Amino acid sequence: MDIKQRIEDLRRELHKHNDLYYIESNPEISDIEFDKMMRELQDLENSYPEYYDATSPTLRVGSDISNSFTQQMHRYPMLSLSNTYTINEVKDFLDRASNLLKEPFKVCAELKYDGTSISLTYIDGKLSSAVTRGDGEKGDVVTANVRTIRTVPLVLKGDYPEDFEIRGEILLPWKEFDRLNKEREEQEEPLFANPRNAASGTLKLQNSKIVAARKLEAILYYMLGADLPSDSHYENLQKAASWGFNVSKYTKLCNGIEDIEEFINYWDTERKNLPVATDGIVLKVDSLRQQVKLGYTAKSPRWAIAYKFQAERAESELLSVSFQVGRTGIITPVANLQPVQLSGTVVKRASLYNEDAINAMDLHIGDVCYVEKGGEIIPKIVGIALGERNERLGAKVSFITKCPVCNTPLVKYEGEVAYYCPNANGCAPQIKGRIEHFIARRAMNIDGVGPETVDSFFANSVIETYADLYKLDVDKIVSCPRIKSEDLSDNEPQNQDELNDDQDFGGLFAVKQTKKPSRRFTELVASKIVKSIEKSKTVPFERVLFALGIRFVGETVAKKIAKHFKNIDSVISASFDELIEVEDVGERIAKSIIEFFTDNRNISMIDELKSAGVKMRVEEEAQLEIASDILKGASIVISGTFEHHSRDEYKAMIETNGGKNVSSISSKTDFILAGDNMGPSKLEKAKKLGIKIISENEFLDMIKI
Ligand code: IVH
Repeated sequence: MDIKQRIEDLRRELHKHNDLYYIESNPEISDIEFDKMMRELQDLENSYPEYYDATSPTLRVGSDISNSFTQQMHRYPMLSLSNTYTINEVKDFLDRASNLLKEPFKVCAELKYDGTSISLTYIDGKLSSAVTRGDGEKGDVVTANVRTIRTVPLVLKGDYPEDFEIRGEILLPWKEFDRLNKEREEQEEPLFANPRNAASGTLKLQNSKIVAARKLEAILYYMLGADLPSDSHYENLQKAASWGFNVSKYTKLCNGIEDIEEFINYWDTERKNLPVATDGIVLKVDSLRQQVKLGYTAKSPRWAIAYKFQAERAESELLSVSFQVGRTGIITPVANLQPVQLSGTVVKRASLYNEDAINAMDLHIGDVCYVEKGGEIIPKIVGIALGERNERLGAKVSFITKCPVCNTPLVKYEGEVAYYCPNANGCAPQIKGRIEHFIARRAMNIDGVGPETVDSFFANSVIETYADLYKLDVDKIVSCPRIKSEDLSDNEPQNQDELNDDQDFGGLFAVKQTKKPSRRFTELVASKIVKSIEKSKTVPFERVLFALGIRFVGETVAKKIAKHFKNIDSVISASFDELIEVEDVGERIAKSIIEFFTDNRNISMIDELKSAGVKMRVEEEAQLEIASDILKGASIVISGTFEHHSRDEYKAMIETNGGKNVSSISSKTDFILAGDNMGPSKLEKAKKLGIKIISENEFLDMIKI
């Protein structure tokens, strides 16, 4: 078989099915078939690098090779649109155009997508570059990242022009945005304020594999080039759709202000049901000839305007500002407001972001604040009604300098705007936060122990660290007074007078307790808690590693570290250089791991967890420890499907017997461990290079398992 031909056929088929799935929403083959073709292509490309192509569908999965962004001048500057907020301003725009054109004209109404803009260049039907807006004159070349976006065609179909640019918006759908922020919240990483920031942040990531995992989308709305198919912008977009572009489905050719008003009114409410963020409508004079006639001002075209939807906004009085302490010690300022109705919910609290934001607003207690929810999930304060200030104005809000709970002076870390309380092992919300993280479902999954129970145990010194959970028994639990959550409010500025005298934790753990404990744990509840703690000893090492709460070590990173180092002792003794060898572990994570294990208190906790029987090594290792050096130095390729063990098991067997598993065949390969249906390209290459092929049974015989 002609390899080059096969590679080309696979690429064509994969492009076609990508288009059917992502653009046409009409898949013809199953995901499994798609993946199978993709794997075959990947294998062939690995074996025959001479057939590399910058538009191959295999590039959609991204790569770990660090992107460095070069800048490129835009062929046509990327301008912005002037904004309007009322129908009257829209009428003015139409009047201006009419006066200049002196002939009838149509207007294309479209949604204004709220993401980050991108300019794509296609030459001979292939994506040749993707450039961000930048300063409008020149932007960053982000082609490798944009290639991973499934709704960006890598090759076009049909009668496309030879060389043209198409512009549009890169968006992170709401669902993905929520998922990403939830993940970041768990890891106490700063949240993205809105999908726009998330999309532009993602587009600038250096690792295109992470970009691929974030599921960005692209919607295209503007074409530029010397030989576009039609004089009508609207028709050009329809044409672009036929070449495989994801153009906005919601466009309307309007003949006058009535049509436009109808479009605006419809989308003002209907946009809330769209999977992506929008913040207005864009109106464009449809004829390209008329667009040229209207021309540009210094900043924006005279042939188009944006009409911005009114963000839902409420006014409310600032009652107080709280400073919350998170699990990692991060201090979050929160505005407590007079409850107010906004977009269907009652808002009592709003984000104040950071010190700079507070200072910039010159915020005072008693100020009437404007609160908006708009595209954001967390309501935010966007300004102050200065005109409503009067002599009753309260104190100026300033950022605290000491931890509101433990009084430790706050610190800032290099490159971060946030303040932190550095007293990780002596600050109650940090300790409790770590215990809550430890017992969470995705960590140790200890059922029946929620924040209230942690509060009760902690406030009564029944536990002081998460390792103490394993020292609990039924007696200890039933004798512990139970505290209801509303009794505690340890995350607000402390008033020493309110501290309960008999809850004195040596001044370190200042927990405000305003009511006396009201209940106790029953024996039944206590024995359930003990049982679920016992069950957590079966949780695999990778989740234990995540549960420890090492800063920046989320679920995925924990998994990769566990797989790499296999046991806790190797992680503890790993050097910085060894740590950054692990996929996804960079300088920041490596430093944080080293810092965590430099603290002797953490080492003692790990010793306690170990003696309690918590898993501190990966499972398979036990079976695979019986290793030999029978394969010492051998380079082995695995291919095909197997009967007795999985591919991963064979991989582990090779490694624990001294061999090395490599992915592609070369003259250095010692043998191929081949199962059924070995890839045809591998077979051919093995024959060509005269490499031995060993069956599953022969291999097992060889290592005597
Ligand atoms: S047309 C010359 N159409 O809005 C203007 N822009 O302020 C060409 N945007 O940077 C842009 N949806 O990021 C156009 N349907 C749409 C749009 C749209 C969103 C963004 C775009 C642009 C900004 C203009």
